[in-house]
Amino acid sequence: MNIFQNSNVLITGGLGFIGSNLARRLIKIGANVTLVDSLIPTYGGNLFNISDISGKVNINICDVRDPYAMAYLIKDKDFLFNLAGQTSHLDSMSSPHIDLEINASAQLSILEACRKINPIIKIVFASTRQIYGKPDYLPVDEKHPIRPVDVNGINKLAGEWYHLLYNNIYGIRACALRLTNTYGPGMRVKDARQTFLGIWIRSLLEGKPIKIFGDGLQLRDFNYVDDCVDAMLLAGAENEANGKVFNLGSTEVITLTDLAKLLIDLGYGGTYEFVPFPSERKVIDIGNYYSDFSLIKKELTWAPKVDLCEGLLKTLSYYHANKENYWNDFD
Ligand SMILES: NC(=O)c1ccc[n+]([C@@H]2O[C@H](COP(=O)([O-])OP(=O)(O)OC[C@H]3O[C@@H](n4cnc5c(N)ncnc54)[C@H](O)[C@@H]3O)[C@@H](O)[C@H]2O)c1
Repeated sequence: MNIFQNSNVLITGGLGFIGSNLARRLIKIGANVTLVDSLIPTYGGNLFNISDISGKVNINICDVRDPYAMAYLIKDKDFLFNLAGQTSHLDSMSSPHIDLEINASAQLSILEACRKINPIIKIVFASTRQIYGKPDYLPVDEKHPIRPVDVNGINKLAGEWYHLLYNNIYGIRACALRLTNTYGPGMRVKDARQTFLGIWIRSLLEGKPIKIFGDGLQLRDFNYVDDCVDAMLLAGAENEANGKVFNLGSTEVITLTDLAKLLIDLGYGGTYEFVPFPSERKVIDIGNYYSDFSLIKKELTWAPKVDLCEGLLKTLSYYHANKENYWNDFD
């Protein structure tokens, strides 16, 4: 990881969940870190996420849709971790054009700025397993057909492929990680807009039942945020990764009901109940999903280290201590 020492790093979406955890790690390594975030109130950005490192990072509150600001920020950077995104699948259906602007058009502007101003930058793009849609087979590897089930999946796919295209055509070193459900301190837990696990954590700590949609038998895999950060750093450091996409994932595959039971067993109380799948969610649900991550294991030697029990315990303990900074209404 010495490659990041004294390097200039830009993280888009840096006040969000994964971006802030990545920033913390890069600061430890000795990088000069700049965070870009729009802090759109309903999205995942939260200044509390970086309260412990706020004096050690440069913070730029701006929107990645502003091509002039982005060109200025990209100019002198060695690495770009490109994480800013509209992440709600439901919102992508109700406001598809906003999702298009942030997850696709803005990505193209960022890459154009790199091409014109800083073609030697190295980029890691945060893509998603959502682009596969409903799996034909499990575990899902990178050769699985791409069949997004919502607008967000299509726009993230475009964003991902713009990065690969600029790598292949212009030699701007870029790669993409297709993240599975990532969790940990800093994730958005306020409501059900983003990942279901966020609102489950809030419900549990507020003494309300966890609501499981449907029969609770859906299979999922999860990565603790530190493991996701490891993968991002490896992908940033290794030129082996250039022009490639890699699945992240875990061998710990669990049904949603067993996940709820595991959370409840961790000592913070909690109950769960089954509720009918809301129709607007059911139509974009991908059913069972878990990843084959053997490619990144083989090529970049990445494998998750934090098991689900340990990761969930750290997460619950974090929100137990810091809840007022995550579920008060700021907007
Ligand atoms: N967390 C997961 O489980 C998961 C899974 C798959 C993919 N991803 C991808 O990883 C990336 C980071 O996700 P996260 O979980 O940290 O989400 P997050 O919502 O916590 O972080 C995204 C950040 O981007 C910022 N942002 C959004 N639109 C912006 C804009 N127009 N200009 C500037 N900043 C903007 C938000 O304010 C937020 O801080 C996203 O691109 C997401 O699609 C995450």
